[in-house]
This record gives sequence, structure tokens and C-alpha cells, in this order.
Amino acid sequence: MVDAGIGVFDSGIGGLTVYKALRQELPAGERLIYLGDTARVPYGTKSEETVVRYALEGARFLQKRGIKALVIACNTMSAVALPALRREIPLPVVGVIGPGAEAACRVTRRKVIGVIGTAATIRSSAYARAIACHLPEARVIGRACPLFVPLAEEGWVDNDVVRAAASAYLGDLKREGIDTLVLGCTHYPLLQDVIGATVGPEVTLVDSARATASVVRARLEERGLLSGGTQREDGDHFFVTDSSERFHEVGSRFLGGPLARLEQIDIVA
Ligand code: DGL
Repeated sequence: MVDAGIGVFDSGIGGLTVYKALRQELPAGERLIYLGDTARVPYGTKSEETVVRYALEGARFLQKRGIKALVIACNTMSAVALPALRREIPLPVVGVIGPGAEAACRVTRRKVIGVIGTAATIRSSAYARAIACHLPEARVIGRACPLFVPLAEEGWVDNDVVRAAASAYLGDLKREGIDTLVLGCTHYPLLQDVIGATVGPEVTLVDSARATASVVRARLEERGLLSGGTQREDGDHFFVTDSSERFHEVGSRFLGGPLARLEQIDIVA
């Protein structure tokens, strides 16, 4: 089991922000198997039932590849599908909301925390609940920013359109006096320069990727499942459900190198 891969699952390209953090945190001997459900992205505009169904289908696809742990590199699935995934998938399943909420509680100074995410994530209030566990007196202000996901998928991370969307979504959050802003969608760190410039330097941005990667490492260590440090010949594998050109173009730009093994698959085949 130690030699098995780790599944990393998102609706599209956003989970690469978590993939990158996992690569930095985990020994080189760990093999990551990434799934981006690019044919059905975005998940964040869909109903809870649909997101749960997609989450289980993707998780089973990865489970069939013999993984030892599953990282849900998507806030939307973490917000609405984690209980179902934990019930159905007999593996350690790590989501991004708990680690992200904890990180926000560590950095906030005035305890006024903004959370941006997909409509499904914000509607679920999952962040508000997770933050309340650590910091019950915190004020949490959520804002859905649905256009950020297609912009990131398009590879538009810093241009006038992104700046206009950011200022429309984030202007009033700033006026509410937030000192911390949780990037509660794994696509959003791709737009973090524009988001940071819009809210200004006095607001600390929290990206749950690093915090999630340390939780994954700790879980594997606890169970004696952490691999050694030697890089393996059968490297990381990327699966997408729609044609792979755009994913390759945007992903390799973000990761700073080509995605060697990238394959288009049918998730339920
Ligand atoms: N990147 C995902 C998230 O963290 C989902 C984006 C989407 O599919 O709407 O919420």
C-alpha cells in the first residue's frame, strides 16, 4: 500500500494549486494521480445532488487506480460531498475546507474574515461552520465569485476582464473591513495577483493548498503510508475528461513544465 499513488481530484484545473503544494510537501517517491473533470466543470453552479454524484464517480475512478488516499482538491466537493465520500470510499479522504479555515483563524488579526468561493460553497456555509469551531467570535462574510472559475480555466489570470470581475466582486468585502480573505475555491489562487491587488496589502490572502498538503502528509505518516524519497520511474499521471490541450497549456504554464502523462478518459467507463 505504501507504493500506491495518491488521488487528487478537482472539477478542472484548480486542483493543480493543491497538486503543486503536495509535490512540495511530500517525498519525491510519492506518485500523484490527478483527475480534472474538465468536461463537467464548473461544479460550483450545480445542485448539491449533482455535485455529490460527480464526486462519487470521480472518486471511484481514482479508487480503481489503486490509490492509498484521496485528496479532494476542490472546495465545492469538500463543502457538500465529504460525508458521502467518507462513507463510500474506504480510504483516508482529505478535503480543503478544514485546513483552509484553520489557516485563516491563525492569521486573522481583527477576526473579520472574508471567504470567496463558488455559489455551492458559499451557500453551504461550510467555511463559516469550520471557522466557528476554531474562532467562534469571528465574523465571516462570504461572497460567491462564479466568473473566476471559467476565467482560470481559460488561462485568463491577469488582464482587464479579470480586474473588472475582481473589483465588482470584492469592492464591498473590502468596505466590510475584512483583514483576511480565504481563497475558498482551488481555482482562485491562479488569479491571486489580481485578487490581492484589488483587496490591498492590508488583507492577508489564505490559500488552503499548503495547509491541506501538510494534513495529507500527517495522515500518511500516522498510518505508516508515507513513501521514501527516491523519485519513481512511473511518475505522476493526469487524467481529464475533455480534450487535454487547454489543460496542458494552462497547467504547464502554472507548474513551470510539461505534464508528461496526460490522458483524456471517460470517467464512468
Ligand atoms: N475548484 C473548485 C473549488 O474549489 C470548483 C470550481 C468549480 O468547478 O466550480 O470549488
